[in-house]
Amino acid sequence: MAVQEVIKMGHPILLEPAKEVADFNSPELKQLLIDMKDTMRALDGVGLAAPQIAVGLRVMIFGVEESERYPDMEPVPETILINPEYSVINAEKETDWEGCLSVPNMRGLVPRYKGIKYRGYDIQGSLIEREAHDFHARVFQHEFDHLNGILYPQRIENMKSFGFEDSLNYEHHVSQEEI
Ligand code: NI
Repeated sequence: MAVQEVIKMGHPILLEPAKEVADFNSPELKQLLIDMKDTMRALDGVGLAAPQIAVGLRVMIFGVEESERYPDMEPVPETILINPEYSVINAEKETDWEGCLSVPNMRGLVPRYKGIKYRGYDIQGSLIEREAHDFHARVFQHEFDHLNGILYPQRIENMKSFGFEDSLNYEHHVSQEEI
């Protein structure tokens, strides 16, 4: 196990833009990806960006299988993205609840683009290019923000829609997952 501590909002590393990965063959990068996967699984997260374990590199992982516990949640393919980029293919924004492992136990309503096309590299240095919509697109945009030093509370338009998960009004679907 190589579960790492997830740093929380207020830590300066979470506010810094991360650096591009230059060496895809380094043992440090391989270990970083193992640590990120172990940490994300241990905390039941849907995604994790390297800065969240205090490593300032442009690396993100995400993915979630279909779940009986959260039947409304769309599955997202297990993905590693190094040096990711994206473009918007559907500029319409959708507002939905988000949580983050670096902002534990809280949820906020965050607008995100409904459709994007992202690309990045896997651990072998092979290009991954995909269209993503809705929750999949949201998870990517959330992790991409981490690489630019942005946490989701900065994206909330109405701060009345930000609070502790166990105090929020569950009339609306509140996502249970932290990404
Ligand atoms: Ni997050």
